[in-house]
Amino acid sequence: MYTVRPLRGLKREIHIPPDKSISHRAAMISSLCNGHTLIKPFLRSDDTLATLSCIERLGIKVQLTHDNSLTVWGKGLYLPQNKQVILQAYESGTTMRILSGLLVAQRFSSRFEAGPFLADRPMGRIVLPLREMGARICGVQRPDKNGREETYPPLEVDPTDQIKGKDFRLPIASAQVKSALMLASLYAQGKTAIAEPYQSRNHTEQMFKQFGANVQIDGTTVTCTSVKELISPRELFIPSDFSSAAFFITLGLILKDSKFTMKNVNINPTRCGLLSVLERMGANIRIENKRGEYEPCADIIVESSQLKPVNVEPGLIPLMIDEVPLLCVAAAFASGVTQIRGVKELRVKETDRVSSIVSNLTKAGVDIHSEQDGDDEKIVIEGGRRYVPAEFMSHGDHRTAMSMVIFAAALEKESVLDNEVCINKSFPEFISLMTLLAQ
Ligand code: S3P
Repeated sequence: MYTVRPLRGLKREIHIPPDKSISHRAAMISSLCNGHTLIKPFLRSDDTLATLSCIERLGIKVQLTHDNSLTVWGKGLYLPQNKQVILQAYESGTTMRILSGLLVAQRFSSRFEAGPFLADRPMGRIVLPLREMGARICGVQRPDKNGREETYPPLEVDPTDQIKGKDFRLPIASAQVKSALMLASLYAQGKTAIAEPYQSRNHTEQMFKQFGANVQIDGTTVTCTSVKELISPRELFIPSDFSSAAFFITLGLILKDSKFTMKNVNINPTRCGLLSVLERMGANIRIENKRGEYEPCADIIVESSQLKPVNVEPGLIPLMIDEVPLLCVAAAFASGVTQIRGVKELRVKETDRVSSIVSNLTKAGVDIHSEQDGDDEKIVIEGGRRYVPAEFMSHGDHRTAMSMVIFAAALEKESVLDNEVCINKSFPEFISLMTLLAQ
């Protein structure tokens, strides 16, 4: 239980932790080179530590020091493990989905287990295309909430040397699915082409380039072919996570008389869809000191703003997939009707994020609902009212929890969040930072 105190009039610099998606990929791909890679700073959170523990179980030596420098000693494309291994992804979907692409091509069997929330998240999206590449992978078959047959953890993988490239047309834009197939393609005979309906985050593509993998990008299609070896760049810098910065970007905009500066934040355009939407809403945001090539970063300065409503089209959603609950929070403070289309995919995140944001914001008096929109869904918010404090529910989901803390901090009286422990999944310093801001 966490009590959220009202905030206002804050002017300060906020330190944002390293990017979660890039940390996972840096650790996984470094373990496939020969020799060491220094990754600095590495995100120390529940999800990224789950990836590290899996890599260690696969026979890779890693060392994470107190200053969050991670060294990974890779042993080449084939992991040193030589007998059946049991891996635990805990609640990290990224760990399970992406690492599976690598496990299917190894010379040993593995069983990939999940924590209780992840055990209820769909895995058919990676299992089916990996099987089409010749992989021997399966999970638990049972109907989903809508009665459709789905595959769930734990996953079982058996070795094969028959991984083949294939042309894929993914039904939904998903960086996790794309990345799993890209990792399998490193071992495949022939080329693998992955076409997405919309662009999803491209961190795996960017990291493949840094490690000398064969990757070509043409619009929203990525083509990969196998390599003899990956070459470590020896040092990788990980910028701050835009998705974590987004909480303080939103807070800075909706609080009165406030200004936040966040340094070294990743501004990879495939992650920053929220920025362009907030700018259309009239947000006062400045991007300064742009630098870097593969993973560009910059300093972000936000100031209190009078926000306007906005319409968001489905093609933008993959560029801000984790920020949609926060956009609903921002829209609650914009006078008028905001529509966010293409949100169906949010129903299979750590929790059903359409339901959780609608029910939480409704408790505070926000006029918000979801509705069918063709074969997808949209969220409609009529913002600009006065809201009341409430007891908000995290549903065990870090981003729902943080979004509600940000919303509650802009109210006039204290609110409560039922459970803040899940926030350790991506942003362990978040609660102490909010408590510090309230002092
Ligand atoms: C992630 C991709 C996204 C995102 C998740 C992290 C990644 O999932 O929601 O938090 O690191 O590749 P999808 O690929 O399922 O959209």
